[in-house]
Amino acid sequence: MKQQQHARTALVTGGSGGIGKACGRKLCERGYDVVLAARREGPLRAAAEEIGARHIVADASDPIGFARAIAPLETIDFVVHAAGVLGGTYARKQTFEQWREIMSANLDSCFVVTSAVLPRMHAGSRLVFISSSAAHEPMMARTAYSATKAGMNAFARALALEVDRDGISVHIVTPGPVETEMLQDVPFEMYAIQVADVADAVAWLDTVDPSVDLPEIRLNAVRRGPFARPPVVPTEARRRAEQRR
Ligand SMILES: NC(=O)c1ccc[n+]([C@@H]2O[C@H](COP(=O)([O-])OP(=O)(O)OC[C@H]3O[C@@H](n4cnc5c(N)ncnc54)[C@H](OP(=O)(O)O)[C@@H]3O)[C@@H](O)[C@H]2O)c1
Repeated sequence: MKQQQHARTALVTGGSGGIGKACGRKLCERGYDVVLAARREGPLRAAAEEIGARHIVADASDPIGFARAIAPLETIDFVVHAAGVLGGTYARKQTFEQWREIMSANLDSCFVVTSAVLPRMHAGSRLVFISSSAAHEPMMARTAYSATKAGMNAFARALALEVDRDGISVHIVTPGPVETEMLQDVPFEMYAIQVADVADAVAWLDTVDPSVDLPEIRLNAVRRGPFARPPVVPTEARRRAEQRR
């Protein structure tokens, strides 16, 4: 008798938002049983219904709550850690509370998510961290954000050294600006890629042979030539332009 194959399980943090949801959609298309996680239930449930996934309300920066929330998942084959916030301001203006909020959502979450999922992973499983070009080119007025993404990259590389012996792959996907809700607070125009571009890269990682160490994929928008898309004008940039009129 043919043995029934169980769908592989993928957990996507930040699954109700732009990049996370797009990754969830691609992984559903690849046949995964996808579980989206985020804090606010309304948008999370809507995203899950839209793409045909399950959902779990969970704060990725809360060690006890996150571990409890994912406890029903027996095995996890693929993790995309896309939960994160931009926020922050100039170091002179920023409060310690703002700093902590960004560190917690973007960097504490790397440890919280990893420590909760690792016991459920096995040889052939993968962890993908959604970083940012700010890890390599820090952004003015985003000291906290830049520090968290550089920290995420270091965390992921150190983790890769720890789990390779178990057959678990760790990848960093590092986009420049991506047209999502997060970008709408930026006060200037910029060249951006689309969420589907990032999701395509993440889904492709699922096809890479586990004997290959592929530390990082970097994606940026082409700025000139026949394939350059028009720059994105975020809501905040539009608001400021109208104020100046
Ligand atoms: N957009 C860009 O230009 C860009 C560029 C490079 C890298 N990135 C990175 O890509 C990732 C996704 O960004 P995005 O643009 O898709 O942002 P987004 O549209 O704002 O979505 C962010 C997602 O993260 C969730 N989230 C935030 N804090 C969380 C927490 N503590 N626990 C669980 N979920 C949390 C949000 O839902 P809740 O608020 O309901 O929890 C939402 O689902 C982020 O790590 C970001 O740094 C974005």
